[in-house]
Amino acid sequence: MNKLQQFYGTAVGKKFVVAITGIMMAGFLVMHMIGNLKAFAGQEKLDHYAAYLREIGQDLFGHATVLWIARVVLIGAVVAHIVTIVLLTKQNRKARPVKYHVKKTFAATFAARMMAVSGVLLLAFIIVHLAQFTFGMWLPTVYEEGHVYDNISKAFGVAWLACFYIFMMFIVCMHLCHGFWSFFQTMGIDNPDRNKALRALAVAVSVILFIGFSIVPMAFLTGMIGSR
Ligand code: HEM
Repeated sequence: MNKLQQFYGTAVGKKFVVAITGIMMAGFLVMHMIGNLKAFAGQEKLDHYAAYLREIGQDLFGHATVLWIARVVLIGAVVAHIVTIVLLTKQNRKARPVKYHVKKTFAATFAARMMAVSGVLLLAFIIVHLAQFTFGMWLPTVYEEGHVYDNISKAFGVAWLACFYIFMMFIVCMHLCHGFWSFFQTMGIDNPDRNKALRALAVAVSVILFIGFSIVPMAFLTGMIGSR
């Protein structure tokens, strides 16, 4: 067994993998949110941005190759994150078959207790989301390849779909909020002197992501922007 396998075999090693893959996904979400906000710059800018993502590095590697590499890395991170959490839970249960009781405050533990539920909902959301906006399935409106602005404009004109996305952004950000806090703990950044500030940072980043994502379906739904 090499050193890496040995490290992964420990609970600390697994927490490390969960933290690193989690932060990779959070990084993707920040980029995705910034990209989505281009909707406020108009149809041309958003569609151009979507086309640009497929053109990165194309002179050297060919069309959409760099995007596909990023997709494979992201899929790898999602799979490693989920598999490692399952293994870590099993390992912890084996080490401590009888649950111990600690006093919990509602605010501090609601997101933590919801991690498994929000994680499963998140995975289901990603599958539905890709089916809708990447593959053009299950949309109540007509999907046109390459017309990102029109696709989301028409889709979020449907009230239940816009509300579903806003609700899911709440779930995503609640999951992220506890995820950030766990990341700080795993990396050993937490410390009684700065825990309050770190918790506030986790909440602030999650709230910014919630607003940044939700404002797009909200703006299309209310007719503030859109091509309908
Ligand atoms: C209101 C929120 C969101 C909107 C409006 C939105 C919109 C979109 C659109 C239009 C695409 C297709 C882009 C293209 O074809 O170039 C896309 C792709 C994608 N979205 Fe979202 N998204 C949202 C939230 C999320 C969240 C929270 C996640 C992850 C948890 C996510 C994960 C993805 C992934 C993985 C892709 C595929 C990227 C690719 O392979 O090119 N999205 N999104």
